[in-house]
Amino acid sequence: LGLWVSSIVDDLNFQVAAVYACLREGPRLVLRKGAAHAPLADEAAIDPETLEHVLSNKSGRYPRDPKLDALARVVALDSFFWMSLPGRDQPLLLLAGYGAGFGRFYTLHDYDLGHFLLFGSHLAALLENQELIAELDRERSELSTSNAQLDASLSKLRDAQAKLLQSTKVLAEVSRRAGMADVATGVLHNVGNVLNSINVSAELSLERLRALRVGGVERVAELLNRAPEELGEFFRSDHRGRVLPTYLKELAGHLSGEVSGIAAELRSLQENVDHIKSIITKQQAYARTVGVSEPCSVTELIEDAIGLVRDSFGELGIRVVRDYAEVPPFLMDRHKVVQILVNLLTNAKHALAESDQEPKQITISVRHRPGGSLSLVVCDNGVGVAPEHLPKLFTYGFTTRKNGHGFGLHASALAAMELGGSLTCTSPGRGGGASFVLELPVRLPFAARG
Ligand SMILES: Nc1ncnc2c1ncn2[C@@H]1O[C@H](COP(=O)(O)OP(=O)(O)O)[C@@H](O)[C@H]1O
Ligand SMILES: [Mg+2]
Repeated sequence: LGLWVSSIVDDLNFQVAAVYACLREGPRLVLRKGAAHAPLADEAAIDPETLEHVLSNKSGRYPRDPKLDALARVVALDSFFWMSLPGRDQPLLLLAGYGAGFGRFYTLHDYDLGHFLLFGSHLAALLENQELIAELDRERSELSTSNAQLDASLSKLRDAQAKLLQSTKVLAEVSRRAGMADVATGVLHNVGNVLNSINVSAELSLERLRALRVGGVERVAELLNRAPEELGEFFRSDHRGRVLPTYLKELAGHLSGEVSGIAAELRSLQENVDHIKSIITKQQAYARTVGVSEPCSVTELIEDAIGLVRDSFGELGIRVVRDYAEVPPFLMDRHKVVQILVNLLTNAKHALAESDQEPKQITISVRHRPGGSLSLVVCDNGVGVAPEHLPKLFTYGFTTRKNGHGFGLHASALAAMELGGSLTCTSPGRGGGASFVLELPVRLPFAARG
């Protein structure tokens, strides 16, 4: 403000010897020279009467106004113009004039008053705008502060997003492994069952081998172990020699019967070993991590999934009903679809194990509207899903089972999404069974496209 005042004063066509601002501070009227925020040049209290006079007359001229003698003494001017500006907080008094030592500009001309008033109104406008400018500055700095805050929260958001992405990846991997665990459990169960049959076969074969009358052959060999010329006599007159052919015939019958029995047992054992091999080969095919779409027979794929869990169905007396619409082979990620189905079938088994419903039944349906998606529906008449649980079913970690993990459905829903499809559940409520619908987009293999 001080600078501004000086530059305006310099611009004025007449010379102004001094500019004073007169501020009221509390009960006192205080003079400041040059500018309000400049260090005090002079400070003087003005008597209330003078103050009253100055403030009630907007502008004027001294020495024509004798009521301002006191003021003239304080500011040491012999003649001056004065002007009071309505400040926002306090009135501002402008003084411009000449003192005794100022030489040739001693006289105040009437046209100088016009300039002075113009200068005053400029100053008033400036003061008013100053507040606006300060306000603008304040707003600008507030704006830039909140801008910076916004920047900070944006980058925090970005960080959080990155972390979320990372943990989603970890979660997806954990879920994938959990899904694999369901498949692996199925495989182990199957292998375990087949190993049981192998054990039984091996045990039986061993027993039959032990019971083979090999000793009889040895005894016959001993009986016949004599000089050739004695053999005729032995067969003719020895009682043992006479029954020996019949005994040998019977022994041969027994041995060949037993050998073929043991061979059959060993064949079944071999078949069981092959079965284990095929189970493991299948598991290895499903354990592939990369998603590859290949032409798949939908029913074959479902049967593969059933094959992985079926053995435990028998123990619970679960009946599997197949309701397959006829559909052409589609391009599908076999691994993912089987994994989802194994999860659904395992869950259905658990739901049936916990239920008293008889007969226990799982229905698997295949539906396809030409041009539309493929629906695989796994429906059971087990314990069902409480309405308040329905929205949480696919959440990571949600389980109602004592030994549950709550990974299976989450992983399955993720896998369904990765396939471009969806997994949904409907249930009439507790005790009403549950239906899980795996909806998949289908693509025909290249050769089948029209
Ligand atoms: N067929 C079903 N019938 C009734 N409830 C089911 C069925 N399938 C899943 N659920 C419910 O969803 C929950 C989560 O299933 P899932 O994600 O596979 O985890 P988990 O099997 O480890 O509990 C189960 O604990 C159960 O409450
Ligand atoms: Mg489960």
